[in-house]
Amino acid sequence: MKRLFLFSTFLISFCSLALADELYQVNYNIIPLPKEVKLDPSKKVFFMLKEGTSVSYDASNAECTRIAQFLKEWTKEATGVNLQLTPGDKNAQIQLRLVSPAAPKGKKSKKPIVLTEQEKESYTMKVTEKGVELTAFEPVGLFRAAQTLRKCLPERPDLGLMPYVEITDQPRFTYRGVLLDCGRHFFSVEFIKQFLDVMALHGCNQFHWHLTEDQGWRFEVKALPDLAKKGSVREKSIIAPSKVRLYDNIPYGGYYTQEECREVVKYAAERYINVVPEIDMPGHMQSALHVFPNLGCTGGPYPVAPHWGVMREVLCGGNPETLTFLKTVFGELCDVFPSPYIHIGGDECPKERWQKCPKCQAKIKELNLTADNDIKVEGGDNRGSQDGRSAENKLQSYINHEIEQFLASKGRSLIGWDEILAGGLTEDAIVMSWRGTKGGVAAARQNHRVIMSPNVYAYIDHPQLADYSKSPRTTDSYVVSCSKMYSFEPLVPEELTKEQGDCILGVQANLWTEHVAYPEHALYQLLPRLASMCEVQWCNPEQKNFEEWKKRLPQLKKLYNKMGVVYCNEVE
Ligand code: ACM
Ligand code: ZN
Repeated sequence: MKRLFLFSTFLISFCSLALADELYQVNYNIIPLPKEVKLDPSKKVFFMLKEGTSVSYDASNAECTRIAQFLKEWTKEATGVNLQLTPGDKNAQIQLRLVSPAAPKGKKSKKPIVLTEQEKESYTMKVTEKGVELTAFEPVGLFRAAQTLRKCLPERPDLGLMPYVEITDQPRFTYRGVLLDCGRHFFSVEFIKQFLDVMALHGCNQFHWHLTEDQGWRFEVKALPDLAKKGSVREKSIIAPSKVRLYDNIPYGGYYTQEECREVVKYAAERYINVVPEIDMPGHMQSALHVFPNLGCTGGPYPVAPHWGVMREVLCGGNPETLTFLKTVFGELCDVFPSPYIHIGGDECPKERWQKCPKCQAKIKELNLTADNDIKVEGGDNRGSQDGRSAENKLQSYINHEIEQFLASKGRSLIGWDEILAGGLTEDAIVMSWRGTKGGVAAARQNHRVIMSPNVYAYIDHPQLADYSKSPRTTDSYVVSCSKMYSFEPLVPEELTKEQGDCILGVQANLWTEHVAYPEHALYQLLPRLASMCEVQWCNPEQKNFEEWKKRLPQLKKLYNKMGVVYCNEVE
């Protein structure tokens, strides 16, 4: 009888453990995949998260305190469990700890150890029977560690055994960006914050905020109050498809005050995201020309553009007031955005007005700019602009040079789309390669820093499913599926030496919004593609495997559901 009792107890325990194993055991295979996940099945230790599980951190450090609070919020959201914040408690089950970097073995030096940007973001997560220990050299690393713990948490903590593990992690690239175009459509500050939360979940650290377009000026410039007030409003918007010029006749507008921009910068910084603002010039400026027609070659009038495409009306390159205007705008931009990089656009600037404009031609003469038509400029096809080293492209380069000097006086570097290669790169320019990777490769070969954002891999305004009828309308010339995005490798050794490869700062996904007017649609375009892109940004190539990524995705989708964000439920 006694033996039978013992046997049945064993059977029940075994079954419940097996059930727990199968259904609720914590899964450390998250997105982006950490550099190293060491599970040791010989160590039969588990930790179980419970109501009131305590979290210790250094309360004298404001960033650690904030990260502990984030962890509390995320745990509640993911599992329903309330963690208890117990700063300085050595016995707390979850420990958030900053540690000093150690000198490599056998190399004792009195000099302080200088961490690389990747090391600053590195962290470890260790689970033992006592609990979870998160360690990092810098708060940003602790933030990444807390995000990892968040992504591992079981939905049912009562059955969520966390097995022994040691995770060590750090990102591959230091620039991991996402662009949101708020020029074509305006998105509220509330939505921008949600967008930043989603970025942070995926380990992204650069929010490229596209603030001005032909179709709307969205950044308040206090010295030029009409610029945002009048330049932000178009009288009507085209109703798709764009070839049939059919308009809704509804005025559309919106802009961000400087106070709101500062609020976004602060919110982003708390999530270790830098905001890279873009004022796109000298093309894509029709909204500014609407307010200041004297800055155009023809004198206007110019409407805020009601349809999409590349506009031939651009800032006059020969009018000295153009530079005065740009310095006023970039000056205030630098006051509001502390970013080390300021994006000046530079893409899609047709030169037909400049070729005929007496002021532009006089400036070209004054600067002694001549065409070097025999120089082939690397890059993709130059939609709407001239390719090659024309005198007009050199005039654009002259404007870039002036703005570069101006930004440098404020300690900032300039980023431009790859068209800035055409007239000759300015000294410190960072190239954002969008027409494929050729522009990025050409810039890296000139020892310029590069961000890769090639349209065929990184443009998330395009559909993600081959059957267009399954999704809301988008820019529909080609499909950028999750697998296509995942296959992108920004460092091709045959094209770049090791030193040139080091010029590639990172990778960015771009969400243009000609056809994306609502937050739900923006999120649908973004997800789960950002989950795919973030492994290009974070993981080393040898770690990447799309089939394995697909298996890891459902766990992240559970968090999307908890966060209440829309996503595309199919993956191709
Ligand atoms: C771009 O897509 N025109 C940068
Ligand atoms: Zn002109």
